[in-house]
Amino acid sequence: MKLKILVVAGDGIGPEVTNEAVAVMKEAAALGSHELTFSERRIGGVAIVQDGTPLPADTLNEALASDAVLLGAVGGNEFNSLPPDKRPEAGLLGLRSALGGFANLRPAFAFKELAVNSPLRPEIIDGADILFVRELLGGLYFGTPREWNRATGEAWNTMRYTRDEVARVARVAFKLAQGRRKKLTSVDKANVLEVSQLWRATVIEVATEFPDVTLEHQYVDAMSMHLMNQPRNYDVVLTENLFGDILSDESAVITGSLGMLPSATIGGKVNLYEPVHGSAPDIAGKGLANPLGAILTGALILRHSAGLETEAHAIETAVRKVLESGCRTPDLARSNPQGFCVLSTKEMGAKVRETLKTLLVNV
Ligand code: IPM
Ligand code: MG
Repeated sequence: MKLKILVVAGDGIGPEVTNEAVAVMKEAAALGSHELTFSERRIGGVAIVQDGTPLPADTLNEALASDAVLLGAVGGNEFNSLPPDKRPEAGLLGLRSALGGFANLRPAFAFKELAVNSPLRPEIIDGADILFVRELLGGLYFGTPREWNRATGEAWNTMRYTRDEVARVARVAFKLAQGRRKKLTSVDKANVLEVSQLWRATVIEVATEFPDVTLEHQYVDAMSMHLMNQPRNYDVVLTENLFGDILSDESAVITGSLGMLPSATIGGKVNLYEPVHGSAPDIAGKGLANPLGAILTGALILRHSAGLETEAHAIETAVRKVLESGCRTPDLARSNPQGFCVLSTKEMGAKVRETLKTLLVNV
């Protein structure tokens, strides 16, 4: 098995966490004698500074010539005054659109060991296991016209979807639900928005292809409350782009830290993998970042792009075992710093690799 992976580490804590993810993937692949090759390119703020653009052509070409792309994070406070199309985030959006992946899978799950980090009561989150399927190439992020007209003091963005765009992401979500608990919750604002009415009608149509999956609809405002009140009620949650951006961050509350969550974007020419967290400039370069979200993202690369289920599962088990052993990065240890072995970013990566070796030794 050969796989060519492009790493675009980006800004802030991106390089620190992707370094650990790459090291863990290498360890997992070596133990199973698979060949992974890695290349690196710039994106986001570092690319603005060095190349004058958030998405250099060379980065895009290399991404299109790879089997998978691992992105760290983009963004930094020094770019806050730039217009949206010049910002580090524009590099990420340009990459998403060029790679063509429209289905962004964002699992949000409760780790028993991290329940203390969540402001929600343990009996509410215990066993919660949600898979968000966020449409990633449509809606307000990409709809035109878009403009801030400074002369008139007006600004507008366009929320637009076609029936086909909704149907293709709905199919991905229904298929994933078939492999899980067979329940799909589609999120919209069909009581107000025409786009949402199209969304709901299309999802209902697609549902006829998947009679074994139970479909329900929720308005996004109600959903944001239900997710905190009864997260165990949800299996696969299908959303348009912006609703999914918001609800997936909200759901990090279930896990206890945004630093734990991975994501995979599938359906296009090249799959794109990113931890859900941002660039966290306040802790960048200090060895404080939690690499587990990036490491779990590495597991998704092995699963979805390399078909290495054993290795992917082993990485996920290793992360769980490390947490069980009481080791934490600082973001996970706030409740009781004395009670844990608190590790730096690199030490956490090393601990996962060490645990992984013991798991994969006989594979
Ligand atoms: C995310 C991020 C991005 C998004 C930003 C960085 C453009 O918030 O991946 O959730 O809004 O999609
Ligand atoms: Mg977001």
